[in-house]
This record gives sequence, C-alpha cells and structure tokens, in this order.
Amino acid sequence: MEAKCVLGYITVSHPPTRRRLNTPKRAVPAEPPSLKLEEFLRLNAPDDLAALTYAIAKSSVDVWDSIPFKTGLLTGSNPSGDAQKAIDVFSNDLFVEALTSTGHAAEVASEEMEEPVASKGGVSVAMDPLDGSSNVETNNPLGSIFGFYSRRLPASGRSLVGALYVTYGTMLTLTFSFGKGVHRFVALREGAAMSFQLLGVNLKLPDRPEVYGFGGSRKEWVDAAARFWASLDGRGLRNRYCGTFVGDYNQVLARGGIFSYPALVNKPRGKLRVLFECAPMAYINEQAGGYASDGTKNMLDVAPSGLAETSPLYIGSAGLVREVEQSLSSA
Ligand code: F6P
Ligand code: MN
Repeated sequence: MEAKCVLGYITVSHPPTRRRLNTPKRAVPAEPPSLKLEEFLRLNAPDDLAALTYAIAKSSVDVWDSIPFKTGLLTGSNPSGDAQKAIDVFSNDLFVEALTSTGHAAEVASEEMEEPVASKGGVSVAMDPLDGSSNVETNNPLGSIFGFYSRRLPASGRSLVGALYVTYGTMLTLTFSFGKGVHRFVALREGAAMSFQLLGVNLKLPDRPEVYGFGGSRKEWVDAAARFWASLDGRGLRNRYCGTFVGDYNQVLARGGIFSYPALVNKPRGKLRVLFECAPMAYINEQAGGYASDGTKNMLDVAPSGLAETSPLYIGSAGLVREVEQSLSSA
C-alpha cells in the first residue's frame, strides 16, 4: 500500500511508516523515490552549481540537527552589528567548509564574516548562513540564503546565475533557481540517512495575493510604506509575519502577496543586506513570476558598493510591488 502526502505543490509518494498491529513483521517494500536531488541536479544544473547545491543540502541537515544544541549568545556581533549566536558561527563555518571543498567556489562571502574566504573555483557565493537566528528561542522557522554570482563580490543581482534558500521549519526544504524556473526539494528520512526528494517544479506565485508581512517597527516606516500596508486588509489580504525573512517570503511564494522590510525614517537603507538576502531572494521571486524592488527600481539592479550594504526591500506579487513603487515615488 502506498502512503501519499500532499505537500503544497505536488503529491509525494513514500512508503508507509506504520504497520497494523498483529501483522507479521516483514520488510516494507522499497518505494522508488519520486526524484532525488542528485538526479535532478545531474539532469538540470551545470556541474559547478550542482556541486555547490548538493554541498549546501548535506550541510543544511547538520545545521537543522544542531539548532537545539547551539542557541547560546556569543559575546561578538557580525559585521552588520547583529548579536551572534553559537549557531550562527557554527552554520557559517560548516557552509564555508562545504562550499570551498567542492572546488567550485571562487570565494565565499557571508553576513557573518568581515571578509570573503577565497577559494579555487569560478562561482562567487554570498550567503546568510542562518537567517532569522534571533527567533531561535521562540521556535519560529529559520532559514539560509545563498546567491551564486558570476563576478567577484560585491556585485549586483544581474550577475546572479542561481540562488537558493533553505527553510528550517516544519519541513527542511531547499528552494532554488538556476535561471530556468523555481524548484523545491524536501528532506525525508531514509533509514538513518536523509535524502532530498522533489516537492515541486516550476513554482509560481498564485495570481490572487493573500498574505503580507512587513518587518521593523510600524512607527519607523516611511509614510508611503505605512499607508500601503494599511490598505492591504481592506483589499482582502491577511497580515502574517513570523520575523524570519525566509519564512515570511516562503509563505508569499506559496500564497501570493508581499513581504517588505521597508525604508525607515531614520534608516532609509532599511535592514536587509543586498548581497546576502535581497538579491538572491529577488532572483528566485522573479523566476517565480514576481517582482522585487528597493522602492525605486528592480532589486536585481541595485549595485552594492560594500559586502554588508543594506536596502529597503519590497518583494512578492508583481502587481503589489509595482504599486508600492508608485506610492513611494509620488510621496
Ligand atoms: O536577517 C535579518 C532578519 O532576521 C530577517 O530574517 C527578518 O526579516 C528581520 O531581521 C526582522 O527584523 P525585525 O525584527 O526588525 O522585524
Ligand atoms: Mn538574515
């Protein structure tokens, strides 16, 4: 008998995990996997991006397993001034080692490091190794974000040749694009090991937007962003905000809508980092049929002059993001 679970976009088949009482103990017949990540990458990705993606997939399982054990705050802070947790540093070091070991990373730059780590390959990787780590205690979803750039960093999102994000939530998923649609894999246990199996191909934002989430404090938002935010309920959207960019964007991709960390009155460049957060997610969002903006132009055209440069971000369903651009420009 086949157990089926419908997870978002497609139906994934897996072997039944429970036996009926009193039935003789026998091996559960092995179900062929729908499609494993390794096979998908072999068929659909250039060798360098395939190797980097697979390295991230394997390390993400270790990050997920380690979150409960490394929640303590360290005394230091990252280059943007955010308090660092042991899990931030652990994830950073794990991903740096995994990515450089592939031989395909030219350099690895991270939100958690002052300088990139140089390596021998051709792809520049920019990462936020643990997005939303201030949410560890409250058990909200966390994430990791990776941008694969064809140029040395810093570079604009136009140099992206691929991007990927991981969710550490109710499911460990990888969502990525190499410029031909957005695809998603989920980690499933296979005995003692984990394997990544296909969860959805060519993901698209739904036509009708349903949810919105804006970061930061409402009283600090610039007026036009605050007015736009206030109009959304009346248009049938629901406010849903978890405080982790990856988690908040992930629901926008599934349900349609908008996520923003807007320009703040005293911080017109917002909070999210262009290289590590905004551009990679904008790339994925555009591949899913959406649009992302810094308030005046396509986020992919923002050319940061430093690794940690920040930008306001409006991302999600194209129509809504274009409307925010208009409100901001006429403010
Ligand atoms: O990486 C920064 C981050 O943790 C994002 O994941 C999140 O969107 C944002 O900060 C939340 O900031 P705030 O607590 O100001 O809403
Ligand atoms: Mn982050």
